[in-house]
Amino acid sequence: MYEIEEQKLAAANSKLDVISEIVNKEKLAADVKFKKLKAGIDLGTSSIVLVVVNEQNVPVFSAYEEASVVRDGLVVDFMGAISITNKLKERAEACLQTNLNTAAGAIPPGTVGNNKKIVGNVIEAANLEVSAILDEPVAAACLLDISDGIVVDVGGGTTGITIIKNKKVVFSADQATGGTQMTLVIAGFYNVTITAAEKLKRSKVKENEIFSIIQPVVEKIGTIIDQYLTKFQIPQNVPVFLVGGATCFEKFPDTLSKMLNRQVYQPHSPRFVTPLGIAIGNEKSFS
Ligand SMILES: Nc1ncnc2c1ncn2[C@@H]1O[C@H](COP(=O)(O)OP(=O)(O)OP(=O)(O)O)[C@@H](O)[C@H]1O
Ligand SMILES: [Mg+2]
Repeated sequence: MYEIEEQKLAAANSKLDVISEIVNKEKLAADVKFKKLKAGIDLGTSSIVLVVVNEQNVPVFSAYEEASVVRDGLVVDFMGAISITNKLKERAEACLQTNLNTAAGAIPPGTVGNNKKIVGNVIEAANLEVSAILDEPVAAACLLDISDGIVVDVGGGTTGITIIKNKKVVFSADQATGGTQMTLVIAGFYNVTITAAEKLKRSKVKENEIFSIIQPVVEKIGTIIDQYLTKFQIPQNVPVFLVGGATCFEKFPDTLSKMLNRQVYQPHSPRFVTPLGIAIGNEKSFS
């Protein structure tokens, strides 16, 4: 089983590596031909990310802007979200030398009513036709081609936990713990500003020291996941797929693996898993 997972991970990683090569460099991926393009927009708590893929689902363009237009999974600054989405679209069009006409979006699990529509409204207001609105973990699961697994998405504001069985989502929850909380803990420890703490967190210079400071946050996330997995009696051979920007610490997967007593896979560039999944995911069937 693990061999198959490793192969799927390698396939996803080769696409994620293309994104890390081109993102925000106004640069097209090398050696890729494209006819029919698909775009995905991820409206996150920390940033808005655009990924454009070709017919083979290989990324050809990617860009993002740091943004505070979403809080706790809800769009709180509609005009700001439209303006950034528009800018990202224009950057893509200038680079690709073609118009983008459609884009898919995604919502955190459990989003209902008007909040569900609002992501589509932002995409439409940026003059893009909405090709699909996916659940965020479903988008990640599409990219990683998960049949049975647990998607853990540690973003800025929240951590999403999604259990997938036979290519179907059987459980999803969103918890208010994530990268922002890690930054607050670092700011408190060093008695520095949030901006300085955020910088420290992302710099790899003192990674071991920083990880030991944020370890209680990681352990809190692990405890919450463990409670769900115990409640739903998820067998130990079902692996975790760890995505989201706040998982960018070398020791994170291992720490979580020990707590959950199961295999934890972390794709390359974990913050781009959901955005890439949104771009490619609209044709696949997960429910
Ligand atoms: N290199 C890094 N090391 C540690 N944390 C990082 C790194 N890069 C980004 N982060 C953190 O990742 C978080 C953002 O992750 P991501 O882009 O997945 O979230 P988002 O999609 O915007 O938020 P959400 O999913 O909660 O709406 C932020 O808290 C950011 O500080
Ligand atoms: Mg996210």
